[in-house]
Amino acid sequence: MSLGIGIVGAGGRMGRMLIDVVQRQPGTHLAAATDRSGGEAVGRDAGELAGQGALGVRVGDDIDAAVAASDAVIDFSLPEATEIVAAACARNGRPLVLGTTGLGEAQQAAIDGLAQQGAVMQAANYSTGVTLLTALVEQAARAIGVQSDIEIIEAHHRHKVDAPSGTALRLGEAVADALGRDLRQCAVYGREGQTGERDRQTIGFETIRAGDIVGEHTVLFGGDGERIELTHKASSRTTFAAGAVRAATWLVEQPPGRYDMRDLIGV
Ligand SMILES: NC(=O)c1ccc[n+]([C@@H]2O[C@H](COP(=O)([O-])OP(=O)(O)OC[C@H]3O[C@@H](n4cnc5c(N)ncnc54)[C@H](OP(=O)(O)O)[C@@H]3O)[C@@H](O)[C@H]2O)c1
Repeated sequence: MSLGIGIVGAGGRMGRMLIDVVQRQPGTHLAAATDRSGGEAVGRDAGELAGQGALGVRVGDDIDAAVAASDAVIDFSLPEATEIVAAACARNGRPLVLGTTGLGEAQQAAIDGLAQQGAVMQAANYSTGVTLLTALVEQAARAIGVQSDIEIIEAHHRHKVDAPSGTALRLGEAVADALGRDLRQCAVYGREGQTGERDRQTIGFETIRAGDIVGEHTVLFGGDGERIELTHKASSRTTFAAGAVRAATWLVEQPPGRYDMRDLIGV
């Protein structure tokens, strides 16, 4: 039986890509699509929005109705929608795949609340490659992290509104956890002026915003006489959309709880 997916943020860059992937992939179909009330996507046919031709699914602005009409929900929108979507999924008993980044404590608490009653996956990056990169970075941190200066460099398109990227922060957490450090204490975001010598205990973040870069992340381990750079480059948003749809298909089979992509691909 085909899985009906509801998409929140359907008019956005990721939303349009998700509509396309959901419709193309065997075993899934678009059940509902919503966007911000008053937004230009609302009222339009979701298929036309994604450049596919009419699907007969209109983009609405009622999140609860969209969630109720779906077997699983995928939300790549803005943090202001997260609590509303999480509450709607809890009310209607629907699993949630959450891709929105830049969440605050209230939104994380809403996801924790949903995870008590239903399955929720939250990943800063739904690409299989970045999931694997995170595991490799942890391994490298355990092996050489103590004697290395560790820097995380990320680049994204000029429209991205949060920095550093959710993926860069997640990579930083992976390094900090592997080394027994607290990222909140040891992160350094950008440098300017008389910074003094670098403290080896810190983890540095550098952000690039330019043009149409889809997403690039490098974790650099700088030692004496050598350095290692682990890099992932996304060349199309399809990788995130395909991962999120795969996650939704997997999540409907899982008991209540909080999951991430590593649970899905088994690294
Ligand atoms: N986890 C991953 O793999 C991954 C990958 C790529 C992106 N992301 C994240 O996904 C999010 C979306 O990225 P994007 O590039 O697609 O951004 P975008 O193009 O700005 O799209 C966001 C969409 O959500 C809509 N929206 C805003 N508030 C809403 C609300 N309260 N209810 C329903 N819809 C709402 C926006 O409408 P308006 O334009 O009218 O405001 C817009 O259509 C960002 O947080 C980004 O960092 C995650």
